[in-house]
Amino acid sequence: MTGEKTEKHIAVVGGTFDPIHFAHLQLGRAALETIHPDEVWFMPSGSNNYRSIMGLRAEKYHREAMVRLALAGEDPHFRLSDWECREPGSTYTSRTFAELNAIYPEVTWYYVVGADTLSSLKYWEEPELICNSTVLLAAGRDEQVSAADTRMAAETLRSKYGADIRFIPWNDRPISSTKVRQGFAEGTIREEDLPHGVYDYAAKHHLYLPLDTLSGEEMLERAGATAEEFEYYQKLKAELKPRRLRHSLGVMHMAMLLADAYRTVPLAKARLAGLLHDCGRLASLPNNALGHAPAGAQKARREYGVTDEEVLSAIRWHTTGRPGMTDLEKIIYVADYIEPFRGPMVHLDKARRIAYTDLDRAVIFAAQNTVKYLESRGEEIDPITLDCEAYYRSLLSQKGGYR
Ligand SMILES: [Fe+2]
Ligand SMILES: [Fe+2]
Repeated sequence: MTGEKTEKHIAVVGGTFDPIHFAHLQLGRAALETIHPDEVWFMPSGSNNYRSIMGLRAEKYHREAMVRLALAGEDPHFRLSDWECREPGSTYTSRTFAELNAIYPEVTWYYVVGADTLSSLKYWEEPELICNSTVLLAAGRDEQVSAADTRMAAETLRSKYGADIRFIPWNDRPISSTKVRQGFAEGTIREEDLPHGVYDYAAKHHLYLPLDTLSGEEMLERAGATAEEFEYYQKLKAELKPRRLRHSLGVMHMAMLLADAYRTVPLAKARLAGLLHDCGRLASLPNNALGHAPAGAQKARREYGVTDEEVLSAIRWHTTGRPGMTDLEKIIYVADYIEPFRGPMVHLDKARRIAYTDLDRAVIFAAQNTVKYLESRGEEIDPITLDCEAYYRSLLSQKGGYR
């Protein structure tokens, strides 16, 4: 960034922060000590790692919570920024800084990276845009910074893209998020290995453990369930078949992932609706494929005491879908189809990918496959499912086409 006089200086430390560890904090401190910015933003990336469906990665809200804990008590210039977590789908550094520059023209943005990143930056999305919208703070140990390939990479970025690169000293520790996650999976990580509060948070929520190794109670803890929801779970346990109970927990997990991806529905509503969505599918009533959804909504109201109409409506429509669904209804409808404990199914991976990028498209996909499945088995199809599919198809063709 050249020429303009700016009034504020902000350094951004990016990453997945899955989870945040000491090297991240040291990057922030290195930036603070060398360029004395007004603020240092820790900005978790918004991308929803696919592996969070199976519990191996942490959702955005968990990652943010851990950053918040780690920053509490640190330097007062440190902030958590949810800039990249607000939107679903992948985020690109270049876009982030282009937007930040447009919205905050008075700010000089510094992008803090490890010095080794300079060599790979040219392979990133729109490296020129990154170089033109930020000052790159390349952090590294002396020998890293003076290494010939680092110097050469910096020269290339300067001459090719006009990059403003400054090297800052950084005594990074031999730690990485990969090692930390491994430590949780193997039970070898200790509280003192991580910034304050991070170990307790990850352990309390059973993060980085495969979902299928968690008990029902542990899954509820992972989701931050309320005391009331733990009671609901006991009732479900008494009334549903074990497989159905497991599925309900899977839908709860998946619904929260989608709510976290899109951020148009509170996580708590997704959790409750997901957990209870099949409460009407009682083990004592085996043939209740279509009727269990309206029965479940009634049961949730009368026996579980749920008063939230949005949650009740999501339970009501989870089997058939309907035209004009709310986001919560769509989330439960789709989560029911793609939850992590679903057995092998044609197009399941594809459906999961679509769900993370376009909820309406995922509704079409689920409806279409449900219809095909029911047809192949000669089972009854509720006409509203066909209406639902047709409605979202026409909506997408209006928005720009559905093939
Ligand atoms: Fe159901
Ligand atoms: Fe279900």
